[in-house]
Amino acid sequence: MKNVLIIGSTGQIGSDLTMKLRREIPEGAIVAGYIPGFEPKGELLESGPAEVVNVCDGKQIAEAVKKYKVDTIYNLAALLSATAEKFPLKAWDIQMNGLINILEVARENGCAVFTPSSIGAFGPSTPHVNTPQDTIQRPKSIYGVTKVATELLSDYYFFKYAVDTRSVRFPGLISYTTLPGGGTTDYAVEIYYAALKGEEFVCPVAAGTYMDMMYMPDALRAAVEIMQADPSKLKHRNSFNIASMSFDPEEIAAAIRKYVPSLKLRYEIDPVRQHIADSWPDKMDDSCAREEWGWAPSYDLDSMTQDMLRHLGEKLGK
Ligand code: SER
Repeated sequence: MKNVLIIGSTGQIGSDLTMKLRREIPEGAIVAGYIPGFEPKGELLESGPAEVVNVCDGKQIAEAVKKYKVDTIYNLAALLSATAEKFPLKAWDIQMNGLINILEVARENGCAVFTPSSIGAFGPSTPHVNTPQDTIQRPKSIYGVTKVATELLSDYYFFKYAVDTRSVRFPGLISYTTLPGGGTTDYAVEIYYAALKGEEFVCPVAAGTYMDMMYMPDALRAAVEIMQADPSKLKHRNSFNIASMSFDPEEIAAAIRKYVPSLKLRYEIDPVRQHIADSWPDKMDDSCAREEWGWAPSYDLDSMTQDMLRHLGEKLGK
């Protein structure tokens, strides 16, 4: 991995991943792909090349790949689960037509491709506790439908055309650089902002709703390590369960109150998010990722909370 195109570089994952790759691969071109209206700013803009690359425009993808001799594409353009329920056709267009555009460019130009899957690739009939790597995947949300199809299409391009596709099923991701938008797990980011701003947190999912979550530094390491893994050891490709922590709103609130005792929590359930959350795993089994490429998380709820509060506090001037 040397010259990398990150599609969706100004989103929650992309903004942090682009900067990490620029730090770790200074000799490479780490290209921040973005769409008008979501331009890179500040450090992201100043520290490397940026190009308009709309995932729905195969020609734009091909031009950027050729211009920078790209060997790896991170495909991070997506509508998250709750937003996708509002705009299912748009979600399909970005997630599926976007993916096939990327896979075709990758096939013609010999690129490796990472397209994240998610806990959303599972559904109500999936075992919710210690969700196995290989199990029932019958999600009910359009987000989940596109994630299952993404996994299948990525594997298809590997088996049929030897395109080096690999990925992980991300839990809900918690970070302080860029807010997620329109996901079911967003509450676990927003609660930190509320705590530091001294605002009451209005939680859209109910107490007792458990979901896998992960701190962004672990997620980024997974996204890089899976692409650097020895391919001869991979029995799976698209996509690996990865896990680090599982909690409900009460548990994350208690973890934050250890450092911000004044945090107040009230529930106003969003039926769309609750329905989606109830269909997702409580806790995934990530033993295949551990065995096949040495995955291991570094953060638990307490160490993440300390780090989040410190960085977010600096950002918010608190
Ligand atoms: N974080 C995503 C969402 O909530 C799931 O992958 O939609």
